Amino acid sequence: MQLRPRARIVGTGMFVPPDIYTNKDLEKMMDTSDEWIQQRTGIKERRFAKPGIGPSDLALEASRAALTMADVKASDLDLIIFATLSPDYFFPGSGAFLQDYLGCGPVLALDVRGQCSGYIYGLKVASAFIESGQAKRVLLVGAECHSRGISLTTEGRDVAVLFGDGAGATVLVPETNPELGILSVEAHTDGAYREILKLETPSFKQWPAITKENLDAGLQFPQMDGRNVFKHAVTRMPEVVGSVLGKHGLSPDDVKLYLFHQANMRINEAVMKQLGQPLTKTYNNIERYGNCSAASVPMCLDEAVRAGRLERGDLLCMTAFGAGFTWGSALLRW
Ligand code: UT7
Repeated sequence: MQLRPRARIVGTGMFVPPDIYTNKDLEKMMDTSDEWIQQRTGIKERRFAKPGIGPSDLALEASRAALTMADVKASDLDLIIFATLSPDYFFPGSGAFLQDYLGCGPVLALDVRGQCSGYIYGLKVASAFIESGQAKRVLLVGAECHSRGISLTTEGRDVAVLFGDGAGATVLVPETNPELGILSVEAHTDGAYREILKLETPSFKQWPAITKENLDAGLQFPQMDGRNVFKHAVTRMPEVVGSVLGKHGLSPDDVKLYLFHQANMRINEAVMKQLGQPLTKTYNNIERYGNCSAASVPMCLDEAVRAGRLERGDLLCMTAFGAGFTWGSALLRW
């Protein structure tokens, strides 16, 4: 018998900036092609925010939509969790920005890293707070402004064509019906792979944190061994899905909808193949938004919910993999 309440998602929202950059637009900035980008990743276009707009501005719009769906007032929140790898400032965290923008009073506002797994890490934190009775109304947001941290040049093309800006938000509350809510969140880190996908500058390991040499070497832009990330993603993601399902005596067939991080459509196809599941059981939006890191999973969730892809009691599995390496999977009864 479930004695402690579970965390349940009762509101979702998303926001993307209005300016669309198609693959053809990127062709004008660097030596790339629409064909290469679509074949390798499945991306057709992405959104870039205008300068002056930060991840917390996108998060605010997504949060308002999620709070409206949940019928929860910002003033009733007792925890804000902000997952991002592209914060407004190095410090204070973007959670502090969002708390102020929402005008919800001085509640606890945490920033969570976890990179592309940031939303799953955030779910782990949110469910722990709710299950232990430390929070009753939690806003969990993933938001990124990647457009500031990529080099839109031929030198930076291996990373630049992949990323976009966006925000996804969810509101979580305690649920006493044992049939509903977050059943488990499993999350992992293996820092042995930290150099494979990284952004090194500014670095508080060195003096000063930003050097001219580092800027000249382009270390303010992400560096990625894409093939290596791909190889680990297609191994770890099905593994963690199997593990989280196994804890509840469930099989991949029991899941109604799979949502994956939107790094590469080929990764998601490979994961579904390994799980023996048809692609029709996923919802993807990488084609329109590219990789929005911590925002990708909650953006997919919001679109899937509003498209009527989930009914009360459906089993939902959300899974991500990212820099660190970090990875994790959340299993929920909707
Ligand atoms: O969200 C965080 C986690 N990130 C990921 O999960 C990313 C995982 N990795 C990937 O999705 C893929 O590795 C990429 C999409 C990043 C790259 O695809 P790939 O099939 O692994 O290509 P590659 O890096 O091996 O590059 C193949 C070729 C190279 O040329 P040569 O050496 O074969 O002549 C690259 O220089 O494609 C070239 N290339 C490009 N060409 C046109 C690399 N980037 C581009 C580009 N446009 N943007």
